[in-house]
Amino acid sequence: MSGDAWSVLADQFVDRSYASAIGQVRTYVLHHQLMHHLAEPPGAVLDVGGGAGHQSFPLARAGYDVTVLDSSPAMLAKARHRLASEAPEVRDRVRLVEARGEDAAEATGGQQFGAVLCHGVLMYVDPPEPLVRSLCERLAPDGVLSLMALNAKTLAIRPALERRWTDALAAFGASGERGVLGVDTRADTVEGLSELLRSEQVEPLAWYGVWLFSDLVDLAAADTNEIRSAAAVELQASRRDPYRQLSRVFHLVARRPASGHQDDEASGKRLAGGTAWNSSEAGRSPAAATLREKGPGVSGPRTIARAWPLNAGRRDSADGT
Ligand SMILES: C[S@@+](CC[C@H](N)C(=O)[O-])C[C@H]1O[C@@H](n2cnc3c(N)ncnc32)[C@H](O)[C@@H]1O
Repeated sequence: MSGDAWSVLADQFVDRSYASAIGQVRTYVLHHQLMHHLAEPPGAVLDVGGGAGHQSFPLARAGYDVTVLDSSPAMLAKARHRLASEAPEVRDRVRLVEARGEDAAEATGGQQFGAVLCHGVLMYVDPPEPLVRSLCERLAPDGVLSLMALNAKTLAIRPALERRWTDALAAFGASGERGVLGVDTRADTVEGLSELLRSEQVEPLAWYGVWLFSDLVDLAAADTNEIRSAAAVELQASRRDPYRQLSRVFHLVARRPASGHQDDEASGKRLAGGTAWNSSEAGRSPAAATLREKGPGVSGPRTIARAWPLNAGRRDSADGT
């Protein structure tokens, strides 16, 4: 996508997709998995293609210093608007930068970050290599990279659920699709993206699904109790085979080794084949690993409880895929 193509998509993405049931589930699951890999705050987080800040403002609330970098002035205007309703100390921890992710080095003055997020962006970027390289370069030693990408292996599910059988048949060999925002999107595989990361000396740690059942049943976005219950189920499914393999998008977490070489002990064990990791434990930060997991709606670890929109009475969420 070129120009500010997001100026016509911003309202739909920010105001509608994020308020949907899938959007709320996506936010919960993604955030929960991410918190298991991040070191305790404070720390510097770069959110590339961060849009209106739905993924990274919760991190600022949790005490991280956040840079939201996005190429779309329209999306950054949404971020600015949303930021205005945050507490002053949260606002102080957020910086908005207009730039392409591929130019992140220059746009951030060469800063390196303890965590780099890029959620729901790679599907709009073709080819992905320059952006992925740029993300990896912004990682400090031991820094965590968090990617959310469209799953090339499950492209037939949505057209099949919508009884678009011809489209579903074509989707088995497809490398992308027309997304729900009405623009063409590009899909990735866990294996392909992992190889790309390794070529940049960044080691994949774990991967997760993000939602599955929310595509299959009609959830009422306003039914907070049902969304909480569904989110608890999706969280469990996101880290287990075969469920995670069927997710519409996948969440891949990786780390730049502290020493500059692959450190299997610190990075979590990778099994033969490179993709069948133990996604529930690999690579979790020592601090995060001690956090006890609780179901949605139950007071959980401080950062998670504060950050999950439903706990804060918000209705943030979703993805434009
Ligand atoms: C689907 S939105 C996701 C926003 C945010 N990451 C989230 O999950 O809520 C995609 C965002 O990526 C941004 N984007 C697309 N290509 C980009 C690029 N090459 N560099 C920086 N931002 C980009 C768009 O402007 C848009 O804000």
